[in-house]
Amino acid sequence: MVRRRFRLVPPRIQPSCLGDQHLAAFMRMLSTTALLAFLSCALLPATLHGEETGDVTPKDKLIIETVLRLQNFDLESSAPAKAAVMRYLRAEEGSDRYFELIERFQPAEIAESLVKYSIDHASETGGVRGAELLFAMNQDKSLVVMAKSDNETKAQAAVQLIGHAAGKQTVSILLPLMQSDAVTVAVRSAALKALGKRLDGQQKIMKLVTSGNLPDDLNFAAANALLGSSNTEIATTAAKYLKLPATADSRPLPALSELVKRTGDAEAGRKIFETAGTCNKCHKVRGKGKEVGPDLSEIGSKLSREAMYVSILDPSAAVSHNFETYSILTLDGLAVTGLLISETDEAVTLRNSEGIDKTVDQEDIEIFKKQKTSLMPQDLQKLLTVDQLVDLVEYILTLKKSGG
Ligand code: HEC
Repeated sequence: MVRRRFRLVPPRIQPSCLGDQHLAAFMRMLSTTALLAFLSCALLPATLHGEETGDVTPKDKLIIETVLRLQNFDLESSAPAKAAVMRYLRAEEGSDRYFELIERFQPAEIAESLVKYSIDHASETGGVRGAELLFAMNQDKSLVVMAKSDNETKAQAAVQLIGHAAGKQTVSILLPLMQSDAVTVAVRSAALKALGKRLDGQQKIMKLVTSGNLPDDLNFAAANALLGSSNTEIATTAAKYLKLPATADSRPLPALSELVKRTGDAEAGRKIFETAGTCNKCHKVRGKGKEVGPDLSEIGSKLSREAMYVSILDPSAAVSHNFETYSILTLDGLAVTGLLISETDEAVTLRNSEGIDKTVDQEDIEIFKKQKTSLMPQDLQKLLTVDQLVDLVEYILTLKKSGG
């Protein structure tokens, strides 16, 4: 191996014969002088077809392995090297090398696609790594903008990423967002949840709670964040101010972190869904039940155990897309609240929580507004004991795409 190293003088190397790993191993053996010689040879005949097609060529890989190993290499000093790096970044999104290259050279041109990548992978290590790099590159503004976007899913993903990656800036970014009127309860709850993972965040939330300034619709999220705090002072003070809602047996709900550890009886849960829980008054499962809320036949493939509890216990914190609540006030004072079934130039139809469709002529409408709360009742846990709730969640978790 060592002897081969001397025979493979730079100009004659055929990079395409080497696998990526071998190439990396080979490059590690070279001195800086050799690397520089290598690079100038690799860059000399400037083009290969890759530049036109956007494909990563074997030569690009060679350049990348080389520049990564050259300390203090200024990527801006070499247009062909930069082009090779950018081609690589576009083609190999999410790979280890991708992150390594961004970390090392921080090309501003990548920020936009890195934001997109991170948002699309917000619940994965790669997404968080991307967000950390955005902060390192001072390109985090676009994440903050995204957190205020109308697209609920993207906004929540951005909040989650900021919580993971903003470090000491977390509070200054997320605290105002948590209190903003311009975003939905879901986004504000997500901001609270992210803040609740940090001690300084918990302290800020606590301040709002003790001064009576925490918006009511954040109570559930705040109780979960503070009652379970590992800081005893926060946990004890929180217990004086915040309570998780009571269940049918008048006992307060355990915190989410406790609930998710429990398992229940799915068959018992199925019966509760159709009786005490009243879930089938609004949800269809495999053709049975009313259609006010989303069909839950495959909900077990979509939501995690924790998300299931939040959907039931704090529905407004995660209103699913296309199921936003609207309200109409007519000129003669009639108030209608429900899901938007249709909207034309002539009339608007809303479906209320009993599953009844009500159509109002456009000319009779005084106010037509999207609500921030879910049509699903906020206090369904009142109908259930803790054990019944656990059984119910066990049941809906079994509702999966195929069979189950
Ligand atoms: C009055 C009608 C109503 C009742 C009763 C009701 N829901 Fe809902 N539910 C909705 C609506 C509307 C939505 C969609 C808006 C939202 O996500 O909050 C929804 C959403 C959900 C979701 C999230 C679905 C998704 O795709 O993300 C779950 C899970 C759920 N409900 C479970 C239940 C369970 C379990 C019960 C019984 C304890 C129940 N619901 C009772 C109306 C209802």
